[in-house]
Amino acid sequence: MILVIGGAGYIGSHYVHYAHEQGENLVVLDNLVYGHREALPEGVPLIEGDMGDTALLDSLFTTYPIQAVVHFAAYAYVGESVTAPTKYYHNNTVATLAVLDAMVRHKVKNFVFSSTCATFGNPQYVPMDEKHPQDPINPYGESKYFVERILRAYDTAYGLRFIALRYFNAAGAAPSGLIGESHDPETHLIPLIFQAVMGTRSNIKVFGTDYDTPDGTCIRDYIHILDIAQAHALALKRLLSGGSSDFFNLGNGQGFSVQEVITACEKVCGKPVPVEKAPRRTGDPPRLIGCADKAHAELGWKPQYAEIETILQHAWNWEQHRRY
Ligand SMILES: NC(=O)c1ccc[n+]([C@@H]2O[C@H](COP(=O)([O-])OP(=O)(O)OC[C@H]3O[C@@H](n4cnc5c(N)ncnc54)[C@H](O)[C@@H]3O)[C@@H](O)[C@H]2O)c1
Repeated sequence: MILVIGGAGYIGSHYVHYAHEQGENLVVLDNLVYGHREALPEGVPLIEGDMGDTALLDSLFTTYPIQAVVHFAAYAYVGESVTAPTKYYHNNTVATLAVLDAMVRHKVKNFVFSSTCATFGNPQYVPMDEKHPQDPINPYGESKYFVERILRAYDTAYGLRFIALRYFNAAGAAPSGLIGESHDPETHLIPLIFQAVMGTRSNIKVFGTDYDTPDGTCIRDYIHILDIAQAHALALKRLLSGGSSDFFNLGNGQGFSVQEVITACEKVCGKPVPVEKAPRRTGDPPRLIGCADKAHAELGWKPQYAEIETILQHAWNWEQHRRY
């Protein structure tokens, strides 16, 4: 059985559906601070609780025959992490440590971790591979980077094997339209664009139009949510077949500018996107692009939905029929 922590969130729920369809036996732990009960498929138990609750973790590991933990739970608002770092270090680092310690106590040795490109900080080159230096520039990135360091130490000391997947921007929704992205507050570009199209916000702000990029707007790397789900399944397969601990970047190797994404959204939904030009935001690098060659070669990761139009079409299907 697989314990999925944060499985009711955006990325976690897509993994839960994917793994459930593949016949995996799953149990979800989520405190529903940001997650949605409706995002889970029927037949997958949800334990509503906090991953920092040691007694709850002990009871979960005792009750269920858990072989592996796939860990998505975190706070992930970069701006908030700067003004309220204590929330980020406590939830993302300290509560994760409680999970790892419970795994050690209960001799569960396989761990897949949602890491992030934010552990790298400002890019020194793009596409960024796993050798890129790590120097996070905000508490969110640091809170994840600390977990990466802890994981190395726990492997050495306790034989807890892990795979840390550092994703760039997760995007899109299940092609079925049944589940999708629903953050509150929403800070991700694609849902914000569709909110502007649907009139639930007045416009989309484009921060900086004078960057050294072909159209002057920032370039980012978007990965379809189901391709991220597939990478987790492959990572877990590798661990369960005795593979060693490692770190993998998940990007698509090519970026799209904010303006390109807006233009592609207009094409997908057939409506104009109201745009407001705004000054650059501090700390936004012009380009963030990930190199996933290592994940392709060593995990056998083959993204199915690399085209930006497909990612946007699935996100648009979801926006039109969202249930939560
Ligand atoms: N969305 C992205 O583009 C992106 C990019 C890189 C990394 N990540 C990482 O991927 C993971 C999932 O991101 P997401 O976009 O799905 O976020 P999300 O907020 O939708 O999901 C996180 C889930 O974890 C739960 N949670 C948080 N703290 C918890 C706790 N203490 N105990 C139990 N449950 C808790 C929340 O209720 C939520 O359901 C996060 O770790 C995030 O840092 C996301």
